Amino acid sequence: MKYPKEYLDEIKTRLKVSTVVSKTVKLKKRGKEFVGLSPFKTEKTPSFTVNDEKEFYHCFSTSEHGNIFDFVMKTQNLRFGEAVKMLSNLAGMQPYTFSKQDEERENKWKIYKSICSNFTEFYKNELLKNENSINAKNYLKQRGLSGVEVKNFNLGFVTEDLDYYKILKKDFDDEIIKQTGLFYYDDKKKKYISRFRNRIIFPINNISGNIIGFGGRIVDDNKNLAKYINSPETPFFKKGSNLYNLDKARKLSNKLEDVYLVEGYMDVIGLSKNGIENAVANLGTALTTKQIQILNQFYNHIIICFDGDQSGYKAALRAAENIIDELKPDKKISFLLLEDNLDPDNYVNKFGKDKFLEISDQQSIPIHKFIFEHYSSQTNENPSSKAIFEKKLREIASNIKDSFVKKYTLEYFLQKVSEMTPNINLKLNKNNKIFPKSLAKTKKYYNETKSLKSFEIKEFSFLYILLAKPNLIHKNFHLLDNVKLYSDENKQLYNEILIQSENLLNLNVQKLNVDKNLINRVMNYASVKHIISKNLNYEEKILEIFEEIIQDLKNYELEQRISELESKFSQDMSETTFNQIKELKKQQKIN
Ligand code: UTP
Ligand code: MN
Repeated sequence: MKYPKEYLDEIKTRLKVSTVVSKTVKLKKRGKEFVGLSPFKTEKTPSFTVNDEKEFYHCFSTSEHGNIFDFVMKTQNLRFGEAVKMLSNLAGMQPYTFSKQDEERENKWKIYKSICSNFTEFYKNELLKNENSINAKNYLKQRGLSGVEVKNFNLGFVTEDLDYYKILKKDFDDEIIKQTGLFYYDDKKKKYISRFRNRIIFPINNISGNIIGFGGRIVDDNKNLAKYINSPETPFFKKGSNLYNLDKARKLSNKLEDVYLVEGYMDVIGLSKNGIENAVANLGTALTTKQIQILNQFYNHIIICFDGDQSGYKAALRAAENIIDELKPDKKISFLLLEDNLDPDNYVNKFGKDKFLEISDQQSIPIHKFIFEHYSSQTNENPSSKAIFEKKLREIASNIKDSFVKKYTLEYFLQKVSEMTPNINLKLNKNNKIFPKSLAKTKKYYNETKSLKSFEIKEFSFLYILLAKPNLIHKNFHLLDNVKLYSDENKQLYNEILIQSENLLNLNVQKLNVDKNLINRVMNYASVKHIISKNLNYEEKILEIFEEIIQDLKNYELEQRISELESKFSQDMSETTFNQIKELKKQQKIN
């Protein structure tokens, strides 16, 4: 949803930049501006300035620059919408409501939020105080969790003592209670049943820290029940667009370089307990590109660390193939594979934070390498198997959206693949050319052009323009003064063009008395052909290009003469030759 400009402008007029900034930075007036210590850097001398008149702040040591919205977004890790809400409130304005439907949704959202948070508080209390939670409490203890984690992650236990639905019913409609997904209707019992009954609950927050859904774990392993269940999708809980613990982890992106993406709630909590708080988990579904995009807003490096068992490996591979398309030049995605069927929670509890950080530093594999190594391990000596392998890699690379990342990923794959075909490489290297794609047409073109000298191709371009725009060149005939061609065939064509027409006026290409192949060569190999045919009506542009070509041709002539004289000079060492060279080099510089 887009805020109208007037609404944002009103916030800006009501709030001076210095008012907003001075809530977090101590400012001193200096002339028209304010100065203070930069909030983006630890410093002793103030390099941070605020200008109310121009409505911006600027930090000279980090080049951070922006308006009040940028300031609160950057210093408080808020998203734009959140910054607008916060600042409009500070400015004493009503929150912006978008339309009737938006307003209705906003109201529903308020109720939804409060039901989720009441539910959380209620069952956290039950976990801590209710005698019937003793098993759950012991279970958590046995897994190494204490009151600290219960508090930080708002864990709870859904006891069966009381019908929470009935309590909610007093204040809210069926419809909105149903939307939270906390209850489902039992047709036999003809009543609403708590979905998470007898489970430890893990509240899931949205990016702003509001509870929007839950994961629930059974306490005693029981083959008849799923170990974990999660809230269903609701209007406010979309699994593919949220991540467990994102609201907390994103706040650390000012200080930390990378973020861990793990599979389970317990992994996030286990890592956090061991001092690694920059971890998020996807929510019991496959990883989406949306989730990667969200993480990339905060972190440049995502380290995916799934369980070290077969299903974790499979999930990691599926994730890699799903998300490599989204890879951007300044972003990195790596995979950390754990051994011995350990998951991040087991690993960090067993070996500790430092060891985990050490392996993450030393053993994380970049996504393209992970994919390569996987398919390589699936490939055997059979030519068909290798062919499938190469095809698969090419297909994966070709789906990458960013053209640069695509190019270098393909290059990496092909380099690795070419190491598997040493004999073919040998032959190619002898000819000193490696074609990643040997399209017949490209090959033919290459074979023909490789015998052409660079000045010949320049001359083709020169002739091409004469043939394509004779009347234009006629009007600018002086440009042709002192133009000299070198190749005999091109000279022949040039002379014929000049003879057949009167200074190129109304040149008739059909009537040129030359071998048609000469003309075809010009038409095919002139390097300017695409740019000229696209710009046929932009005469100024064509003339500009034409003049450049002529300049290059003249320089070529000079170069030739200089190199002739230089070889003469090496023989005769005469002063005259030396001066001639000097003179020509001077001319070359002027050109
Ligand atoms: P795991 O089984 O690896 O979870 O599933 P975990 O956190 O390691 O489990 P314990 O508590 O240590 O044994 C990883 C994630 O997959 C989803 C959950 O989101 C879980 O956190 N999951 C797992 C389900 O949705 N349903 C299940 O039955 C199992
Ligand atoms: Mn696990």
